[in-house]
Amino acid sequence: MAFTYDPNAANSSAAKVDTSRKLRIGIIGTGWIADAHIASYKKMPDVEIVAGADLIPGKAAAFFKKHGVEGVKTDYASHKEMLADKSLQLDAVSVCTYNRTHAVCAIDSMKAGVHVLLEKPMCVTTEEAIEICRAEKETGKVLSIGFQPRLDENMKMIKKIVDSGELGQIYYIQTGGGRRRGIPTPFGTTFIEDKTAGLGALGDIGCYSLDMVLNAIGYPKPLTVSGWKSDFFGKDPSYSNYVKTGHPEYASLFGVDDFAAAFVRLEGGIILDFRIAWAMNMDTCGDTLILGTKGGLRIPSTECWNGSVGGAMKIYHEVCGSQVCTEIPIIPEDRNMSLFDKKIRSFLDACKGIAPIPVPSSQILYNQAIIDGIAKSSAIGKEIAIEIPEI
Ligand SMILES: NC(=O)c1ccc[n+]([C@@H]2O[C@H](COP(=O)([O-])OP(=O)(O)OC[C@H]3O[C@@H](n4cnc5c(N)ncnc54)[C@H](O)[C@@H]3O)[C@@H](O)[C@H]2O)c1
Repeated sequence: MAFTYDPNAANSSAAKVDTSRKLRIGIIGTGWIADAHIASYKKMPDVEIVAGADLIPGKAAAFFKKHGVEGVKTDYASHKEMLADKSLQLDAVSVCTYNRTHAVCAIDSMKAGVHVLLEKPMCVTTEEAIEICRAEKETGKVLSIGFQPRLDENMKMIKKIVDSGELGQIYYIQTGGGRRRGIPTPFGTTFIEDKTAGLGALGDIGCYSLDMVLNAIGYPKPLTVSGWKSDFFGKDPSYSNYVKTGHPEYASLFGVDDFAAAFVRLEGGIILDFRIAWAMNMDTCGDTLILGTKGGLRIPSTECWNGSVGGAMKIYHEVCGSQVCTEIPIIPEDRNMSLFDKKIRSFLDACKGIAPIPVPSSQILYNQAIIDGIAKSSAIGKEIAIEIPEI
């Protein structure tokens, strides 16, 4: 059944918060990525950071101290206690927890009457994603998913090229990315243990590759997926980065994927050929290719895949019978505002009701369904149909 509701429509009218005062912000999960959130919130003149919660005692307090933000309440054992503290008068939270607690933190926050900026990937399973969308619909709260690469001008250019009709009808996409040696363990094991991460490369960086192309083509519904994943590097105690950092024991904790590949059928007769790696004996999983009936777009990959365009894009097309190639130069980074600043600003503006939700859940539900479909198909060794009920 089709997924029909449009969160942008619900957000297009009156202000969603009391704009006569500063927006009161909380941070759930004060680990690595929360550093980027707080750095951007601190730059926003209409924001007051009032609370933070982390499961690890003392971690939230140390976090705000490190960032020089005073007067923040942190004496909460979990996100639930923070949300229950009505004296905070929270307007919005950033959910910066590991993947396994994304769904519970986002749902509890919206049910407590708070707008949510939820880090990527949206969650772990399709079922969780559906519950998140249902909570959003029931509560009418603003929910945006933290895909800051979307706000990059080069990424926007991919969508502009597709929308211009220059490529004609899109029928095939190859995408993905990867690192030669890049299992993320600089701050411990929350990215590699199943109980915290739930997904490896597939969720961590696979979600970016999927968003890059699916956003460009208007997020068609995924229909079927045949997926495969592996863990050869992560489970190997002699994996070079474990050895370099003196942590061969990480191999026994590794419970997610470090490589995944899939063949996905999308509504509209479009085929998506996907692969992603945290580690592999290769320098790249290949450039992203979007093939259309009038033109083909090549988007160069980057070595350390994190959802960015790796060089000048090229359109291969025909002009007056000649096969030509048009180069689209890289648009330089905006030095005044980082992608993270844009992610936070666009979320705050959506909370105020003065801008659309930057990355709506109705789109990322499909992203998550593909990721989870790959995991599920891999587990049973067969192609599966993707079923998404009415929200
Ligand atoms: N957008 C980006 O560029 C980007 C970059 C890195 C990570 N991320 C995402 O951010 C998320 C967090 O990554 P990280 O590296 O900061 O992880 P981390 O493990 O360093 O921090 C997560 C923190 O959340 C806390 N936590 C978990 N559940 C909680 C709960 N219910 N209540 C309160 N605290 C809770 C943990 O105790 C931990 O301190 C991941 O989902 C990751 O994919 C996004």
